Order: sequence, then C-alpha cells, then structure tokens
Amino acid sequence: MLVLLHKSSDRLLTVTIISLLIKNNIQINYYEVICYLTGIYMSNTNLPFQSEIIYEAIITTYNQQNQPNAAPMGFSITKEKQVIIRPFKESDTYKNLQDQKKCIVNITNDPDLFVKSTLFQDLLTDEFYIKSKIINAPILKTCKGNHITLKVIKEKGEEERGIFHCEIIKVELSRENIQPHTRAFSSLIEILIHTTRVIHFSKTSGLSDPKVKQLRELIEHHSQIITRVTNKDSQFQEYLEKIQEKIFQEVGE
Ligand SMILES: Cc1cc2nc3c(=O)[nH]c(=O)nc-3n(C[C@H](O)[C@H](O)[C@H](O)COP(=O)(O)O)c2cc1C
Repeated sequence: MLVLLHKSSDRLLTVTIISLLIKNNIQINYYEVICYLTGIYMSNTNLPFQSEIIYEAIITTYNQQNQPNAAPMGFSITKEKQVIIRPFKESDTYKNLQDQKKCIVNITNDPDLFVKSTLFQDLLTDEFYIKSKIINAPILKTCKGNHITLKVIKEKGEEERGIFHCEIIKVELSRENIQPHTRAFSSLIEILIHTTRVIHFSKTSGLSDPKVKQLRELIEHHSQIITRVTNKDSQFQEYLEKIQEKIFQEVGE
C-alpha cells in the first residue's frame, strides 16, 4: 500500500488506488494515507535519507532555563537508524544536549537561518521558535512541517567533541523539501565547475598555467570534503572516481 502511494505522484491516482483497496477489503493504514495526502512524510522510526552521509541541519535545544538555542550541526544516520550529532564541547548545543537529552533536527535550505544560527544567534528571538508537543525542545517555526524529534540515548566523547547517539522519536518531513543539505553535493558541483575550467585551460594555455594548478588544488580540496562526509560506497565517491578518470583522459595527467 505505502509503496503504491509513494510511487504515485498523482493524488487523484492515489485516491483511486485507495478506493480499489477499500472495495477489495484490503487493510489500509489511514494515518499514512492522511500524511500522504497532506504532503507530509511522518514516521516513528524511518528516515528517507542515506545512512552514513553527513547532512547539515539546524539543531534546536533548550538550556537549563528553557531558553531556546539554534545551531547548524552535521548529523548522520547509522544502519541501526540512530541519529548521530557531534557538537564541539565548548558549544551551547553540547551543554544543552547533556542537560536536556532532547533536540530537534530542523531541515531547511534557508541561508538566512544558517547565517543567523551560526554567527548571529541574538537575532533568533523567541518568535522564531515554537515548543515541541512531544519533547522539551524548541522547533524553528519555519521547520514546523520539516523536522526530526530526537532523544539522546548514549553519549560517547572524543577529546574535542561529544558524540550523541539519538533515538528517533518522530519524523515529520514535507514531501516537497525532504532532503537536507549535504556538503558532498555542494562540493560535487564545485568540482564539476572546476573540472570544466581545468579541461579548458589545459587545452588553451597548457598544463603549467598557474590557473590549472590552482583549480586542481580546489578540486583536491572538495574531493577531501566528499571523502570525509560520505562513505566509500556512496554515489558521491563513485562520481569522484569517474571525474578523476575524465580529467586524466582529457588532460593526460
Ligand atoms: C553547516 C554547518 C555545520 C556545522 N556543523 C557543526 C558540527 O557538526 N558540530 C559543531 O560543534 N559545530 C558545527 N558547526 C558550527 C556551529 O554551528 C557554530 O559553532 C555555532 O555557533 C554553535 O552554536 P552553539 O554554541 O549555540 O551550539 C557547523 C556550522 C555550520 C555552518
């Protein structure tokens, strides 16, 4: 049933499928159907993201005085469906996660929210937040329909960072904007742009052109980011190999 719904992008077709299922006495999960028709992906445990890729989102927490805090953080999902967050120990997010053991992963592509929550947190006044109905944590208002609710179940520490393993309490994601940002994608785009320039300048000005050297350094820099934030079986690392082969074919080294 769910497979049919998720494959069908046409809501009229969905309603037709549901009518057929009712007629044939096939059991329907009405909760999922409502979520589908309202355009919201909801689940208690499953996340529609790839495991072991670091995505970027804005983590919101309360401090001990229940004042809201927001900060961009990378998060990843393990094969066991736990969410991992790795805040530096001096961050407020680290302290709040230790105290409250609850947080919200706000999924957004809004640059304004990323800038404010990284460097200008004072601008994120109380009106930017609503309180979660299920845990003691704030949600960014604009992410009301696009967030993941988490409870910390285990904390392991490194020297500089805490590593929080979190259980997924609830997933609420809009179907239209379901994918969070990953640095792998922006680095891949940068590599593609630089590669076209490397090919062009190698052919027009030769391999010793300083521009070619500089572009190759940038490609190397972004390749390292991809290697760091994705696992070796990911499509991103496959693309990296293909791009490197292509550069070799085109410029000869
Ligand atoms: C895209 C992005 C990802 C980030 N990821 C992390 C991270 O995983 N861990 C971390 O400690 N800081 C990370 N930072 C930096 C923090 O967001 C930043 O230091 C913030 O001011 C911490 O706020 P806080 O003290 O309120 O927790 C990231 C910043 C950006 C822009």
